[in-house]
Amino acid sequence: MKILLTGADGQVGYELWRTLQHLGEVIPTTRNGREIEGMPTLALDLTNSADIEKKVNAIQPDLICNAAAYTAVDNAEKEIDLAYAINSEAPAIFAKYAVITDTKLVHYSTDYVFSGEASKPWKEDDFCDPQSIYGRSKLNAEQSIIDSGCQHMIFRTSWVFSDRGQNFVKSMLKLALEQNELNIVDDQVGSPTLASSLATATAMAINNPVDGLYHMTSSGKTTWCGFARRIFSQAHKMGIIPNIPIVNAITTEQYPTPATRPKYSVLDCHKLKNTFDISMPNWQTALQLCMQNIRRQA
Ligand SMILES: NC(=O)c1ccc[n+]([C@@H]2O[C@H](COP(=O)([O-])OP(=O)(O)OC[C@H]3O[C@@H](n4cnc5c(N)ncnc54)[C@H](OP(=O)(O)O)[C@@H]3O)[C@@H](O)[C@H]2O)c1
Repeated sequence: MKILLTGADGQVGYELWRTLQHLGEVIPTTRNGREIEGMPTLALDLTNSADIEKKVNAIQPDLICNAAAYTAVDNAEKEIDLAYAINSEAPAIFAKYAVITDTKLVHYSTDYVFSGEASKPWKEDDFCDPQSIYGRSKLNAEQSIIDSGCQHMIFRTSWVFSDRGQNFVKSMLKLALEQNELNIVDDQVGSPTLASSLATATAMAINNPVDGLYHMTSSGKTTWCGFARRIFSQAHKMGIIPNIPIVNAITTEQYPTPATRPKYSVLDCHKLKNTFDISMPNWQTALQLCMQNIRRQA
């Protein structure tokens, strides 16, 4: 199987690059074709629709795995065209190609397609009402992939973290070395999900593909504040940070951001379990695995 992978230097894409090797030949692509840890990648800028068409036609993959996205949620409120080009238009081009050539498409989406006004986990077919440009641009992609009729699996995930790239865990560890006291939002609830768990679960699903839209997150839930406290206690126990900073719980109103985040974005993953027999680890275990990698790199 020839797999065209986008976003090979992103949190999820990097893990997929390694994991999907077990399923076939992976062609990793990045926006500018840069080398990653000495490994070459193919340049594929998702804002360049002509180049996307040219390259997929030349490569003729059996599967396109689209892990690239415009993920700067707050900046998206200003860079609207760019966010839509990468998050909506590029996936639609992949879907169009996939339906014509009978290619499979794997794509990632987000908890931000929901309003966040809920108190029980969101199911795949619950009403979507994104509150941000990022969420709307990602929902557009879901709809165009489904409407295209191509063979697809779309995985909605949330609060992604990893031992590399930019994410909440890395930011908290950096802040813990710089500050003694931190204010963290405690009224947004979600499921922190490890990038390598997503890659493993994706590979399992590709092995026995069933078209559809699935929720794919760690099990369990927490708030950003609860997540931060756990990061600090675990990092301190493992000797990654010398001191545990004081964490003050604050409200979303006390920490305004350009993009509105869902207050409750826990996703119900029963469909993933029932269809593929995939159980995702709980977020605490996922965090511990991530911390072990961070400690090894230190
Ligand atoms: N991060 C989260 O918390 C989160 C939550 C829910 C869902 N998701 C979804 O999960 C998927 C993977 O996210 P992630 O966390 O791995 O994101 P990430 O770490 O931000 O990586 C995104 C990748 O997309 C690439 N990209 C951006 N613009 C591009 C362009 N014009 N052409 C080609 N590549 C481009 C980036 O490459 P460059 O570095 O070269 O720009 C980057 O490597 C995405 O679909 C995202 O929407 C993420």
